[in-house]
Amino acid sequence: MASNSIRGRARALVTGASAGIGAAFAEHLARAGHDLLLVARRRDRLDALAQRMRSEAGIEAEVVCADLTDPKAVSEVEARIADDGALTLLVNNAGFGGYQPFASIAPKVIDDLVAIHVRTVARLTRAALPGMIERGRGTIINVASLLALSGTLPPAPLPHRATYAGAKAFMLAFTQALAGELVGTGVRLQVCLPGRVATEFHSVQGIDTSKLPPTMTADDVVRASLAGVAQGEIVCVPALGDAALLSRLAETQVAVLQAAAWQPALAERYRSAAPKG
Ligand SMILES: NC(=O)c1ccc[n+]([C@@H]2O[C@H](COP(=O)([O-])OP(=O)(O)OC[C@H]3O[C@@H](n4cnc5c(N)ncnc54)[C@H](OP(=O)(O)O)[C@@H]3O)[C@@H](O)[C@H]2O)c1
Repeated sequence: MASNSIRGRARALVTGASAGIGAAFAEHLARAGHDLLLVARRRDRLDALAQRMRSEAGIEAEVVCADLTDPKAVSEVEARIADDGALTLLVNNAGFGGYQPFASIAPKVIDDLVAIHVRTVARLTRAALPGMIERGRGTIINVASLLALSGTLPPAPLPHRATYAGAKAFMLAFTQALAGELVGTGVRLQVCLPGRVATEFHSVQGIDTSKLPPTMTADDVVRASLAGVAQGEIVCVPALGDAALLSRLAETQVAVLQAAAWQPALAERYRSAAPKG
C-alpha cells in the first residue's frame, strides 16, 4: 500500500470511526488539525465522515474498510500503519458488547470479542510503536470500559458480560504495563474507561435503553480522553470526579503484588486445607 504521508502534519488512525465514540474522536481530531485514517466495516459511513471532515476541517482523510475480527484484514491495517511515516495518534476504539450468559453464548461471539478487543488492539499497537518511538512522539488511546473493573459484581443490573469485561480488563492491564515499558520514548498511552455512553452500542445488540438512566455523550468521552492525555493520565475515567480513587486502586494492586509476588511459602490459611503431595 502506498503511503501518502504529509511530513510535519499530525495524522490519526481511528478504529470504529463509523459511529459513536470513534466518530466523535475523528471529528475532534480533525478539528484539531489531524489528517485521518478512518477504519471500520461500513464504507458508506466512513466515506461520508471523511468527506465532511475534508470540507469542514480542511484535513486529508482516508478510508480503510476492515473487519477487525478478521486476521487478514488486521494484517492489511497493520501494513497500512507500518507504511505510514507520520502516524502520531492511534485510537483503538472499535468494539461491540456481545452481552449474553456465558453458558449459552455462541463460540463465534467469544472469538470475535477476544479478536477485536484483545488481538487487534495488541497487533495495531505493535504496528504503530516502532515509527512513533523512532520519531520520539506519538499517542495511543485504547477505549476499554468501566466494565474492565466489574469482575466482582453480579450480572444484574449490569449485563451478562464475562468475555467482554475480561477483554476490556486485558486492555486496561495491557495499556498500564506498556506505558511502563515506554517511559522516556516520547510515546504516551492512555486507556479510557467510559461508563454507559449514548451511541449505537446497545441498539446493535437489541438492548432497549429507554428505561435505563441517562448516559454520557460520545463527545464528552472524547473531551475527557484528550484532556486526560494532555494531563498525562494513563487511566481515564470520564465520569469519575474523585481521581484519588484510581490511585487507591493502584496502591491496593501494588500492595497485593508486594505481599505475594516474591513469597515462596504457601499462605497460612491454605496450609492445613491443601492436599499433600
Ligand atoms: N456505548 C457504551 O456504553 C460504551 C461504554 C464503554 C465502552 N464502550 C466501548 O467504546 C467503543 C466504541 O463503542 P461505541 O459506544 O461507539 O459503539 P457503536 O456506536 O456501536 O460503534 C462501534 C464502532 O465499532 C465498529 N466495529 C464494530 N465491530 C467491528 C468490526 N468487526 N470490525 C471493525 N469495526 C467494527 C463499528 O463500525 P462498523 O459496524 O461500521 O464496522 C462502529 O464504528 C467500543 O470498544 C465499546 O466497547 C462503549
